[in-house]
Amino acid sequence: MSPGDGTRAVHAGVPAPRQGAPTLPGPVFASHFHLEGDPAGADYVYGRYGNPTWTLYERALGELEGGVAVCFASGMAAASAVLAPLLRPGDALVLPADGYPAVRSLATGHLSERGVEVRLIGTGEAPSDEVLAGARLVWLETPSNPGLETVDIAEAAARTHAAGALAAVDNTLATPLGQLPLELGADFSVSSDSKHLTGHGDLILGHVAVSDPALAEGLVAWRTQTGAVAGPLEAWLAHRSLATLELRLERQCTTALALAERLLFRSDVKDVRYPGLPGDPAHEVALRQMRRFGTVVCFTLESRERAERFLAACRLVAQATSFGGVRSSAERRARWGGDDVAEGFVRFSVGCETPEDLLADVERGLDLSAG
Ligand SMILES: Cc1ncc(COP(=O)(O)O)c(C=O)c1O
Repeated sequence: MSPGDGTRAVHAGVPAPRQGAPTLPGPVFASHFHLEGDPAGADYVYGRYGNPTWTLYERALGELEGGVAVCFASGMAAASAVLAPLLRPGDALVLPADGYPAVRSLATGHLSERGVEVRLIGTGEAPSDEVLAGARLVWLETPSNPGLETVDIAEAAARTHAAGALAAVDNTLATPLGQLPLELGADFSVSSDSKHLTGHGDLILGHVAVSDPALAEGLVAWRTQTGAVAGPLEAWLAHRSLATLELRLERQCTTALALAERLLFRSDVKDVRYPGLPGDPAHEVALRQMRRFGTVVCFTLESRERAERFLAACRLVAQATSFGGVRSSAERRARWGGDDVAEGFVRFSVGCETPEDLLADVERGLDLSAG
């Protein structure tokens, strides 16, 4: 019998027991390591090249992702490590039109200024033969932030490979316990670990997982050259938090579905989106490839003012960007201006509070903000 997700998360990357050693060794703070003579063969030489705390965290991520993981200073550092070294002038990049805006602005700004052709497609759309013609890389984000659209990864990756391109999936919303992009055929699984993987809203981190060791080598080389390295404390805190990932997700995903179902009954709440809701446009694809449907629920209130009143009225829900943390948070997403959403669109990140308390708080916030 293969171990369950809880067992895998709790034991991920934990070294074999050794007399007198801690279960998870603490963070190793070092800019340099003792190094005499020929550096070839030394495990650790300089803190930008490698660190034992990253090694353990990466081992954990690799086990959960089913591949080789490389950690980075942030989710954007991880995304850049895939995009920048791979794409040369004249290459074409296929990208969702309404995924996480910073990835899009990196592509349409820096990359396109350097001669990369950026082809934007519908966020929940598999790339067509036409859009794939001559492409070098297809970037998928499923479920997408903030629209919660899904794309069939296996189908998109197969079409991408048939066209001679590579496929990357931003797996931030799903996590490796929700969906396994590498197993579904993607070449890169990219994540902002600032969200669920670390889960406490207290640090910034990211990673990329790959099946092909040559791709992993390229990512490490890029990280070393650009210095987009994770701090040892962040990497250690992240590894420590992985142990509760399954527990947190169980609570958060269950409450997220309950919240989405509750919101469907309210006539003052429109366009409730959650990939786990039967009837949601994203559900069919989600059922095929996801084991958990995520912690984010989106919905639309009638106006900017109503959404602002609602957010202010909630007592248990922090007004904050980001998602995936133990404490519920929400924001009126249009305040940033980068997403194709209505003024009253709310992205709600469900935390680990007692479900009935949270649902009552949301209902109360909606009642108080009405009219
Ligand atoms: C889907 C997605 N990808 C990437 C990122 C970037 O991650 P980070 O903020 O850790 O750089 C985010 C951040 O919100 C995100 O939501």
